[in-house]
Amino acid sequence: MSTESGALFEADTPGADAPETVDFPVPAPLDSHGPARVIAMCNQKGGVGKTTTTINLAAALAEYGRKVLIVDFDPQGAASAGLGINANELDDTVYTLLMDSKADIRDTIVHTSVPDLDVVPANIDLSAAEVQLVGEVAREQALSRALRPVLDEYDVIFIDCQPSLGLLTVNALTAAHGVLIPLGAEYFALRGVALLVDTIEKVTDRLNPKLRIDGILATMVDMRTLHSREVIERVREAFGEKLFDTTISRTVKFPDATVAAEPITSYAPTHPGAEAYRRLARELVARGDAA
Ligand SMILES: Nc1ncnc2c1ncn2[C@@H]1O[C@H](COP(=O)(O)OP(=O)(O)OP(=O)(O)O)[C@@H](O)[C@H]1O
Ligand SMILES: [Mg+2]
Repeated sequence: MSTESGALFEADTPGADAPETVDFPVPAPLDSHGPARVIAMCNQKGGVGKTTTTINLAAALAEYGRKVLIVDFDPQGAASAGLGINANELDDTVYTLLMDSKADIRDTIVHTSVPDLDVVPANIDLSAAEVQLVGEVAREQALSRALRPVLDEYDVIFIDCQPSLGLLTVNALTAAHGVLIPLGAEYFALRGVALLVDTIEKVTDRLNPKLRIDGILATMVDMRTLHSREVIERVREAFGEKLFDTTISRTVKFPDATVAAEPITSYAPTHPGAEAYRRLARELVARGDAA
């Protein structure tokens, strides 16, 4: 392992007195908002941190003055719940937008307790969409069409995908400019990513030529273990620059924040986990993948 990557590994370890590694500048304030960059949070493997990353990266970008919309695109509604929204009580959700081309996205948008962070919620209704969309014309473009009216009002729109590569995820990839792939730092993390990359390539070919992979994010990292470091090294070999320099450590503060239905950036603002997502937000902007 090179010294350089050794320094990188220590960067986000809570409590480690890591030497200051490269940081990313605080994004300049924006004079106006939009057009949005749409980013799909995808990995068909469950429990890798898609929803946690969606909520906390979105909240960090909102703290930096960006207008951010989260589209909850999982029938489990975890992103909605994680931001304190009881989507089970709602009649109009992202499902309504997919099924009714006359529905207005503005009627489904819910403001959260975080300024400049809004959500299009989802609930279990969405589980029927996959089957119902199959017979529709332009079935892969339903989400893209639904988002169009608000593209100019937000700086970033995140789509929190469910753990599958089915038609809903294809809709997310068709609506997106970029894909962000959270990857748990564990053995076999890379298994399945080839299949995801394959799907992304098919969508790029057939439906959405502008689509690209924005980055791979190592989550649930424990830098004290050789294991985590080895997995990250493997991901770096496979994806090179696509791997975000920022990594997200494993900490119980994330599940705690979920229970509190808040982003970690407001639940525990000074926790290293909050700082890691702020750093990721700065890195995303520095890469040019967000305004
Ligand atoms: N860095 C972390 N450290 C510890 N726990 C984490 C971390 N990130 C996420 N978690 C926890 O792991 C679980 C799965 O995370 P999350 O829901 O974000 O994954 P997901 O990829 O969205 O899952 P699914 O595929 O089911 O939608 C949650 O309980 C979450 O609180
Ligand atoms: Mg999720």
